[in-house]
Amino acid sequence: MRKLFYSAIIVVTIFSTISTMAQHTLTVQVNEPGAKVQSTMWGIFFEDINFAADGGVYAELVKNRSFEFLWPLMGWEVTKDDNALGEFLVINRGDENPNNPRFLRLTCKTDSIPYGLINEGFRGMGVKKDNLYDFSIIARKHAGDVKLKIELIDTLGTVLGQTSLENFSENWTKYEAELTCNNTYPKAKLRILLEGPGSLDMDMISLFPRDTWKNRKNGLRADLVQMLADMKPGFIRFPGGCVVEGHHLDLRYQWKKTVGKLEDRKLIINRWNTEFDYRPAHDYFQSYGLGFYEYFLLAEDIGAEPVPILNCGMACQFNSAEVVPLDQLDPYIQDALDLIEFANGAPTTKWGGLRAEMGHPTPFNLKFLGIGNEQWGEQYIERYKIISEAIRKVHPEINLISGSGPWRAGELLEYLWGELKHMETDLVDEHYYCPPEWFLKNANRYDSYDRKCPKVFAGEFAAHGKEEENPTSRNTWYSAMCEAAYMTGLERNADVVYMASYAPLFANVEAWQWRPDLIWFDNLHVMGTPNYYVQKMYSTNRGSDVVPILEKGKALIGQDSLYASATIDKSTKEVCMKLVNIQARPMKVEINLTGAELSQKKAVVQVLTSENVMDYNTIENSKKVYPVENEIDISGTKFEIKLEKESFTVLKIKYK
Ligand code: AHR
Repeated sequence: MRKLFYSAIIVVTIFSTISTMAQHTLTVQVNEPGAKVQSTMWGIFFEDINFAADGGVYAELVKNRSFEFLWPLMGWEVTKDDNALGEFLVINRGDENPNNPRFLRLTCKTDSIPYGLINEGFRGMGVKKDNLYDFSIIARKHAGDVKLKIELIDTLGTVLGQTSLENFSENWTKYEAELTCNNTYPKAKLRILLEGPGSLDMDMISLFPRDTWKNRKNGLRADLVQMLADMKPGFIRFPGGCVVEGHHLDLRYQWKKTVGKLEDRKLIINRWNTEFDYRPAHDYFQSYGLGFYEYFLLAEDIGAEPVPILNCGMACQFNSAEVVPLDQLDPYIQDALDLIEFANGAPTTKWGGLRAEMGHPTPFNLKFLGIGNEQWGEQYIERYKIISEAIRKVHPEINLISGSGPWRAGELLEYLWGELKHMETDLVDEHYYCPPEWFLKNANRYDSYDRKCPKVFAGEFAAHGKEEENPTSRNTWYSAMCEAAYMTGLERNADVVYMASYAPLFANVEAWQWRPDLIWFDNLHVMGTPNYYVQKMYSTNRGSDVVPILEKGKALIGQDSLYASATIDKSTKEVCMKLVNIQARPMKVEINLTGAELSQKKAVVQVLTSENVMDYNTIENSKKVYPVENEIDISGTKFEIKLEKESFTVLKIKYK
């Protein structure tokens, strides 16, 4: 017993001696700028997965508004009033309207009790007290002079807001009405009741909140877009991901089908509808209300370079692996050329004209274009070569991005890089979804990359942990901390890595297929994950040039649990350090800034950490892992700071 007591005293003494000494002494060479940090360095990857578009950022509240889901009445039910007399009929116009063939004929047989339908929304409709909602419908009178009552109701049928429409014409016409909501409710429904007798043909039944992002019609959810804008992203890649490829070629993403009038955008099943048996989503379709025009607008709004990715004549190789014969790639090449015209062409051109007609006469200034997503093998190289050469001939100004499959190492990746090096590609898109420890071990991934190769677009990455017996891959602080450590390596190699984005971006808490994801939401709330705050801390503290941050002449890549990188911002005259302490106790670090004088003896410190590395945010507790910002006094160009245990710190200091 006595022996044990003595050894405990010794341990405490040794620890306190160590804790007074700095564990690391770092030199930051402020006057030795190296690689430029591209303005595109930290960006966003958008894919319509996890109900990110319909049921997510696209603010439409009505699910299956045009009755084009595989089951025409999915999302709709008949009102349950046994005394009501009525009927409905789904009519298919076929070739007369090939992009939107179906409509609904609703008939009410009496003048005493209305007959109608209820739409359930996307896991309900989130509505807010005193907010305005815009209802619209394309309708024509079929028989009688009917009136349409439009109501927002709660799950008990209590009316939360209402409006009505009448005097319908016999020709298809768009009608609009607004209603105000009297209560905040997460799971409202839309009830439309026909007062007869008579019948009405109905299509494109739509309800939008008025307070969309920038109050745009057919707009986006303001709270979700704000999260993106807050990141000040350098680029936004869209529309994916595997949705670009499709299970098979018929289901590939075709941008031309996503522009123009809403009612002409042909809906398709979302490939994530059936992808995972354990997360089925049978009501997951792409209405394309959020289409390429809206993506370009979003990019412009948040100050990000638009980075569209197009299909390269190959379906997903994990699914059907269908390919288009090499001599039939012309439509794919034409799609790419036309997209460049849509984005950059004068309003007098065909596709530039459509852009102008949709409301944007000035060009979107497209500079990047991806050909293919996660493709691999000879089939990809052959197709990429043909398509990229054809685009190059006409548009040498566009930076072309090639895929590199889903591999982070191995023969298949080496083969692709070997081929791509000799081809005219500007950037190679690498993807890595790996355990958190992979990120720690690979923070030096790009230190030895061939500087003459095409640049790297780390287009999809995320740490996937197995934090419970059955893997759940939550957005834990541990996963985010490991990503932060890895990203010091991306920043240090900014001469190789020109773009990087976490993936996927959004997930609906009730309708996700893939986890982890950067931002989660329900019908009324949005929540940033620890991973989101890591991305944001990098992208809002980018700097213009990398500067060396060294210990004994070496970069910090996990020695004694420390990862570090540094940049300066030549315009604001700030040095910005990113420091990640992965050890389970605080760390004292001495920092020596060389080659610069301070303009003030102060530093801005942002710290992201949490009590337990397995902590994660939820909608209810959205700030459990949340950055804290403080200003601290420092003694001069040489000073000491204490890094919290298991923390990511951004330190900014102004110099003269
Ligand atoms: O981000 C989810 C998926 O992961 C993407 O669609 C695909 O590119 C990758 O396999």
